[in-house]
This record gives sequence, structure tokens and C-alpha cells, in this order.
Amino acid sequence: MKIFAFAGSLRAASFNRTLLALAATNARTAGATVEIGDFRDYCPPHYDGDLEAASGLPREAQALIAKIDASDGVIIASPEYNRSIPGPLKNALDWVSRVKPYKLTGKPLLMIGATSGKVGCLDGFAALRITLEFQAAKVYAESYGLSRAASAFTTSGQFADAAEAAKLNALIRAFVTQA
Ligand SMILES: Cc1cc2nc3c(=O)[nH]c(=O)nc-3n(C[C@H](O)[C@H](O)[C@H](O)COP(=O)(O)O)c2cc1C
Repeated sequence: MKIFAFAGSLRAASFNRTLLALAATNARTAGATVEIGDFRDYCPPHYDGDLEAASGLPREAQALIAKIDASDGVIIASPEYNRSIPGPLKNALDWVSRVKPYKLTGKPLLMIGATSGKVGCLDGFAALRITLEFQAAKVYAESYGLSRAASAFTTSGQFADAAEAAKLNALIRAFVTQA
């Protein structure tokens, strides 16, 4: 399985980038090839119908679509913002939806995420699922949400809690082998 993975957070020290690196290691161990994209390279300007009419899809949206197209599956690691999808991620997915038929149609997609709050991304995943499934993505039934992310990793980017490591690994293995 060829996986394209990216984090829905732009910041360099993002907990979701850390989580995604761990997920990628799990996926490679399970036999997948994984490319991690830097969301900064795939984050288009705000959707603007005039911009689209004048010049079509921005290069970042085209690049994201090309990566989705070339993959057998996608992993998104995203925080939730105000119990919903971070604006930059929603905007990128809105641009992706401008190509018909939807480029996400039938694409196996796994949602994982880390937040600093007490409830690991549950509402964010619900909102993200709506947007992804509207574009006909095959969103994996289960997801992995990490709460209290600020204390969840060691300084070397590993899980502080072995039970969390095992939980993520089991989900990634299931996604890679069943999706
Ligand atoms: C605008 C904004 C809204 C946020 N809303 C939530 C939220 O609804 N739930 C939550 O657990 N954390 C929330 N947070 C905190 C994020 O979980 C935290 O900033 C996290 O580190 C973001 O992920 P990152 O480390 O990958 O950038 C919010 C942060 C921002 C900046």
C-alpha cells in the first residue's frame, strides 16, 4: 500500500507532525510505503471563486490532488480547532473538491490526531469525516485521537505511554492490511 500522509497543522513543532512520524513508522513496519508531505507545500490560498475563474486551482491544491491520486491511501493527522476542522485543512479540502469527479472518491483514508485538550479530537474527526465522506472518500471506521499531547511524547518524539504506542500501532496495522 502506497500511503500519502500529511498533518493538518502548519507549525514546525506540531504534535501532529510528531504523531504522524510515529504512524508512518508503524505503517512501514506493516509493509506500506509512506510519503510524509509537509502541509506548508499543500496549503493553498483561501478559496476565492474569482481566483479560481482567473487561474484555476492554485499549485498547492494541484500538488495535493496529485499526491492523493498517486496514493492507495491517505493518512491525515490533524488537531481540532474549536471542536472542528482547522481552517487551513478545510480550505485545502475545499479546493480538492473543485475537481469532479471527486479525487477522493473511494480513497481509503485514516484520521488520526493530537490535541492539547482533554478529549482527543473527537468532534474534529466528526467534522472532518463529513467533509471527506461528502467527497466520497472511504474513511476508515476507526480513528486515533491523542489528548493532552503536550505531555504525551518524550523529547525524542516517542510515546511516553506504551499503551498509546500499542493503540496507534494496532490501528495503523489494521488500516494498512484491511483498507
Ligand atoms: C484556534 C485554536 C483552536 C483550538 N481548539 C481546540 C479544541 O477544540 N480542542 C482541543 O483539544 N484543542 C484545541 N486547541 C489546542 C490544540 O489542540 C493545540 O494547539 C495543538 O497543539 C494543535 O496541534 P499541533 O500541535 O499539531 O499544532 C486549539 C488551538 C487553536 C490555535
